Amino acid sequence: MNQVGIGIVGAGGIASAHVKAYQQMASARVVGVVDVDEERAQAFARRYNLPFWSGEDEDLLRREDIHIVSLCVPHHLHAPLAIKALQAGKHVLVEKPLAISLEEADAVTAEAQRANRNLGVVFQLRYEADVKRAKLVLERQLIGEPFYAEIHCLWWRRPMYYEVPWRGKWATEGGGAVINQASHHIDLLVHLLGLPCEVNATIDTIAHQIEVEDWCLATMRWDDRLRASFCAATCAELENDSSRMLVLGTHGTIQMFPFRPHSRQESRLVQIADACREIPDTEVSGHTAELHDFVRSVQEGRPPTVSAHDGRRALELITAIYQSAFTGEPVALPLDVNSPCYTTAGKLETARRYLSQRAKRT
Ligand SMILES: NC(=O)c1ccc[n+]([C@@H]2O[C@H](COP(=O)([O-])OP(=O)(O)OC[C@H]3O[C@@H](n4cnc5c(N)ncnc54)[C@H](O)[C@@H]3O)[C@@H](O)[C@H]2O)c1
Repeated sequence: MNQVGIGIVGAGGIASAHVKAYQQMASARVVGVVDVDEERAQAFARRYNLPFWSGEDEDLLRREDIHIVSLCVPHHLHAPLAIKALQAGKHVLVEKPLAISLEEADAVTAEAQRANRNLGVVFQLRYEADVKRAKLVLERQLIGEPFYAEIHCLWWRRPMYYEVPWRGKWATEGGGAVINQASHHIDLLVHLLGLPCEVNATIDTIAHQIEVEDWCLATMRWDDRLRASFCAATCAELENDSSRMLVLGTHGTIQMFPFRPHSRQESRLVQIADACREIPDTEVSGHTAELHDFVRSVQEGRPPTVSAHDGRRALELITAIYQSAFTGEPVALPLDVNSPCYTTAGKLETARRYLSQRAKRT
């Protein structure tokens, strides 16, 4: 395939990052955009000089000059639209999260396998050199055996952010600070340390008039030694949004962001520095790095670096966090199909019961 044709579905906030990234690639051509708000699609097409726009997804999906679809739509539409695009023969890159329930994540993954098409999920932090360095340091056990991790996503979202109708609701956003903002951090935790075997979580809604949580505190356990604490918020009025990750090992630590590995043992420090030098600084980062990788994966006939499998694993931990918060019980992973929050209907019903109990308490 000489030039890969791209179609953007959803012309809202994040779509600009997608079109700008693709337009940097000589081997990709953004053919068009679709949005249920046709005027928005048209304005977007004009701004980025795209030859085609429409208000109907089908118009884009039936085009033979479009090979990849970038899904930049509300969370509850990720899985249904991805399935439609895969059935139309397109490769699909979905913005995070992969879906709002594990049932939907499994359905879309099965469809990608049936269609033999690539399915990726946007977790752009994975392409940062420092994340790759952290992974290498942990794989080589250069900080010894990890026994504690801490991950914070303390962000502020103005009330206006939640005025967009799909946000702030369980049925359409699928959750709040955890599934939306902190999904990147959760993905990193799972990428670096694997899935924990138990989660205990509490959620609350503190500073916004929304159904979903704007705050979460969770603890996680991998085995008898490795534990983590996790905090996500969109109600943290700090001067700047703050992300932090810390992994304590028996012989050293990794801190992110910014990346600062440390050991008191001189020889380990040298090994850590050597390992970090093996990973060169990236020329492009963020969405640009991930979207370029996705295009190349299609051209080269290989899976994308961040796959639907990764999206599913992050979603499994997110689902366990919500299940624990709704029920007030610890939740063991892996979750099976009988878990109360596995299906979308089950998750929404469990959320409804949680909300009605919370309303009685206040
Ligand atoms: N990776 C990141 O750092 C990052 C950052 C921001 C947003 N996102 C993700 O991007 C996605 C979109 O978020 P946003 O902030 O751009 O939302 P948004 O509300 O600004 O844009 C969504 C657009 O989708 C359109 N839309 C709704 N239904 C549609 C349909 N059936 N067909 C076509 N278009 C439809 C809406 O009209 C709207 O223009 C979400 O999954 C969000 O989590 C990711």
